[in-house]
Amino acid sequence: MASVPVPALEARAVACADRLREADAVLHASHIDADGLTSGAIATTALRRADISVETVFEKQLDEAAIARMAATDFEVVLFTDFGSGQLDVIAEYEAEGAFTPVIADHHQPAGAGTDDRLDTEYHLNPLLEGIDGASELSGAGAAYLLARALAEVDGHDPRAENRDLAALAVVGAVGDMQASAGELTGANEAIVDEGVAAGVIETGRDLALYGKQTRPLPKLLEYASELQIPGISNDEGGSIRFLDGLDVDLKRDGEWRTWVDLEPEERKAVVSALVRRAVDRGVPASRIDGIVGTAYELAEELAGTELRDASEFSTLLNATARYERPDVGLAVCLGNRDGALTRARRLLANHRRNLSEGLNLVSREGVTSETHVQWFDAGDRIRETIVGIVAGMAMGTDGVDANKPIIAFADADEAETKVSARGSQALIRQGLDLSAAMTEAAKAVDGEGGGHDIAAGATIPEGMEAAFVENVDRIVGEQLG
Ligand code: C5P
Ligand code: C5P
Ligand code: ZN
Repeated sequence: MASVPVPALEARAVACADRLREADAVLHASHIDADGLTSGAIATTALRRADISVETVFEKQLDEAAIARMAATDFEVVLFTDFGSGQLDVIAEYEAEGAFTPVIADHHQPAGAGTDDRLDTEYHLNPLLEGIDGASELSGAGAAYLLARALAEVDGHDPRAENRDLAALAVVGAVGDMQASAGELTGANEAIVDEGVAAGVIETGRDLALYGKQTRPLPKLLEYASELQIPGISNDEGGSIRFLDGLDVDLKRDGEWRTWVDLEPEERKAVVSALVRRAVDRGVPASRIDGIVGTAYELAEELAGTELRDASEFSTLLNATARYERPDVGLAVCLGNRDGALTRARRLLANHRRNLSEGLNLVSREGVTSETHVQWFDAGDRIRETIVGIVAGMAMGTDGVDANKPIIAFADADEAETKVSARGSQALIRQGLDLSAAMTEAAKAVDGEGGGHDIAAGATIPEGMEAAFVENVDRIVGEQLG
């Protein structure tokens, strides 16, 4: 990897790969979101190619019960991807008992981070251990990719033999974790993009930065662009159609709505310039206008006009599977199944979209409660705990939700527990916000568990402790920002 200083990380990857090669069989556990699924597919593929037998499982949360289930199997080595670092304390106890040897490829804050007892283990690949930002420079899938590269035959010259073709899934994972939210992937992620381009599996270019360029009918692309919030276009079907009509761009061809990828380059340019002009005229802040264009990441081997072609649409398709108890479907799509699994994934996607839109409506109807430093809402059983974090992130900056305050969301979880999701912003991080630390500490105070990243974190707390939890988070965030 040329452009970023990651030799220390690569040394960790090599140590992990060597340990995996010694195992007869590996139990591989990964997280249920897009980054976790792609991490799972990357590591599973690399292990199979290296003739290491692997069984892959997915978990909603790597809690004590999940780790205990893994310890109860006969597997001597357990590989954790996209989680594990935050649970090192529990994992270390099982390791000490001889239950299994853990190998971890993750990008979350390690347990004890920021305190004197930050934990580590022998086979641990995590960007944060080498000064690389795990929330913006390397995802779980990126860490799994480094592991896959270390597991590959060395002198392949063939991208597959070197596992460089897996860079495409690593990019989907990073984009799915919102690591390109400032417009493009940077740091170690960018080095992976470069490898993917060289291997012929990724194409990049400056383009309109809206979700749905491959599959959404043009007016819908603009209407649903909540990230833009251009008056008269965003959330305005008629306005979007009138805007496009005024541009001399054919909206339909052969009676079918055209999509962004159907447009000629000149037509795309015309739409982008007109959007920028409209945004300037309506006083949209410059920072948001800059966000109209960004770097697009396409999967060169996938069909244009499908969800799989665009890293962002691919990642949403994956979230629509594993967050609804169908990780098998998402994994199969990542592993190349384009028949039954893709059809099922598309059906799940329609359902996921509906749930996100209903969730956003709920937040806009009921609003959020503002404390001194944070704002929150309680969705109860009306938003699934597995997607409440996505809804919270999308709600940031919409009407009635302050873009300059962290947002905390509650949703009912199983067994008398409440799921908490928290989201911040780059500007708040620069002022000192660390949601991972805040969730960890506030959860601990009410007998719960939390963790994550500075910009996005979560927790599980006992039902009924929400008010005490908010009070703690408000105080901790106040201290961080103070
Ligand atoms: O467990 P995992 O690391 O995969 O989850 C990361 C979560 O953090 C994702 O839901 C992602 O959307 C969110 N995130 C965010 N903004 C960022 C980075 C991550 O909302 N800049
Ligand atoms: O579930 P959500 O998308 O809100 O999670 C945000 C981040 O917080 C993820 O990276 C997730 O792995 C982490 N998290 C955690 N412990 C929890 C809940 C979430 O580390 N109990
Ligand atoms: Zn992740």
